[in-house]
Amino acid sequence: MNTIASELAASIRSIPDYPKPGIIFRDITTMLGNAKAFRRAVDALVQPYAGTKIDKVAGMEARGFILGGAVAHQLSAGFVPIRKKGKLPHDIVRIAYSLEYGVDEMEMHRDAVNPGEKVILVDDLIATGGTAVGATQLLRQIGAEVVAACFVIDLPDLGGRKKLEALDVPVHTLVEFS
Ligand code: PRP
Ligand code: ADE
Repeated sequence: MNTIASELAASIRSIPDYPKPGIIFRDITTMLGNAKAFRRAVDALVQPYAGTKIDKVAGMEARGFILGGAVAHQLSAGFVPIRKKGKLPHDIVRIAYSLEYGVDEMEMHRDAVNPGEKVILVDDLIATGGTAVGATQLLRQIGAEVVAACFVIDLPDLGGRKKLEALDVPVHTLVEFS
């Protein structure tokens, strides 16, 4: 593991059997509360795109809002919230998706991105990839160019990265837990 990966791994708390038996929950609240680790994570997420024109950062509710907002600020990009169903007040696009421990639906405002705009997706973690694949499909449905997807944590055994790469979305992650 490189230095940043080991620093971040040490700042993330692991909770066995949450929210269901057999799941090891990777809890980033300890990383967010550690000023040095939070800054290191945001800087490392931003670094590949510094100097690149990114129009918008899309973040998935809820943990993707925290990291995506910080990344958007550093890239001087707009921010697009991708929300769980029923929270957005205007005309929406919606998709059903499954994740490591359940199924849900997510929504985005139809006018959140203009056709051809360059968007990066940001979330804390990729596991099965259900959330990020769904978000990519929503963004493409309204004409966005999904330039990349960035996560603090990859759970490679669950195959999400490969699913996104199969959709031609480059994936950037900082630390793996197997
Ligand atoms: C978590 C995490 C990702 C998603 C990853 O969110 O923040 O968005 O699961 O899982 P996947 O790759 O299998 O789709 P969750 O839906 O638990 O929502 P939260 O951020 O509101 O806790
Ligand atoms: N989202 C999906 N799988 C997760 C895990 N193991 N820990 C934290 N968030 C998750």
